[in-house]
Amino acid sequence: MQEIHLTAQSHNSVIRCGQGVFETYAPKYKEGQFFIVTDSNVFALYRHLLWETFGININIKILPAGEKSKTHKYLFEILKEMLNCGMRRNCTVIAFGGGVVGDIAGLAAALYMRGVNLVQIPTTLLAQVDSSVGGKTAVDMCGVKNVIGTFYQPQEVLADPRFLETLPEKEIRCGLGEIVKYGALDGGIFAKLTENKNNLKDLRFLSEIIYRCIAHKAKVVKDDERDLNGLRKTLNMGHSTGHALELYYGKKSHGEYVLIGMYFELFIARKLGICTGQYAEELKSLILSVIKKIPYYADLEKAADYAKFDKKNNDEKISLIVPKALGESTEIKLGLEEYVKLLKECGGGL
Ligand code: NAD
Ligand code: GLY
Repeated sequence: MQEIHLTAQSHNSVIRCGQGVFETYAPKYKEGQFFIVTDSNVFALYRHLLWETFGININIKILPAGEKSKTHKYLFEILKEMLNCGMRRNCTVIAFGGGVVGDIAGLAAALYMRGVNLVQIPTTLLAQVDSSVGGKTAVDMCGVKNVIGTFYQPQEVLADPRFLETLPEKEIRCGLGEIVKYGALDGGIFAKLTENKNNLKDLRFLSEIIYRCIAHKAKVVKDDERDLNGLRKTLNMGHSTGHALELYYGKKSHGEYVLIGMYFELFIARKLGICTGQYAEELKSLILSVIKKIPYYADLEKAADYAKFDKKNNDEKISLIVPKALGESTEIKLGLEEYVKLLKECGGGL
């Protein structure tokens, strides 16, 4: 078991990762008042574990599984049920699930009585390496992702790889999307990933890489908790294009779109002479070792329109975080027309 202390400006978090952290650290929450948020798939798989750990009479909200639940409607249902259950200011919200549960439960914890304790127990690979750490909480609105939200640090994150054993292959691939992103930001992670390119889905390897990704994110969040000085933006590599394709096409998982977005944005960085040589080739090959095929997108122009809403843009231009060299990235800003032209040149359909 490993521990990372994230000293953020608002609250501090302790992030515990490794086999056994759930059974060691979760039971203490039954000593106080707590409210669990989970989703239908996770509840079906782990209800016995929840009952054994927290007792049969738990206050719990079970959301329908999937991104469609990340809305203000479900947010207010959670808040209403917390009130109906008599939750007080010193209660703890336990987010037990993937990134969807973590984001909406985190926002509910931030809002309820102006903020109650929050514990993240991430059960997907994506949530363990990324979304449970760093305090970004949100719901989607009018088809725009994460448009209502706040920064709210969990007091504790329990990232236990035991939960990955039941994850479908597609969700492992989804988490690998964010892991490859960390590889493009951190030379040490890149080396580990390229050495183990044929072994990326092995649970023992993943346990080690989860710790490294969290450690990278914790350093970034410590220095730029509220995404203000440009450092935290780097964690959004591949996301501008990935989110735009996700919003327009919406057939794959978040992490798969991150990878596809990275593929397009790496092409753009190469075309503009920002990322070159052997490193660019190795990064492309790492991306393609996870997402074997890049689909052909006929409507890139329409999909790119969604990139206009990305929170990184602070003017008319589309902001992209692109890879530059081993462990280095940079931000570029493109006019919509140029962006669409470059996306079309890249084309996909691989
Ligand atoms: P998700 O929460 O929808 O989970 C994916 C699927 O896996 C769901 O069907 C879920 O029911 C199922 N599942 C969860 N745990 C399981 C388990 N242990 N075994 C079997 N099935 C399980 O999606 P996700 O990929 O975890 O998260 C995506 C969300 O995270 C998006 O909404 C994205 O915007 C958000 N996100 C947030 C941040 C952040 O910093 N807050 C970062 C990245 C992504
Ligand atoms: N996942 C991006 C961030 O936490 O900033």
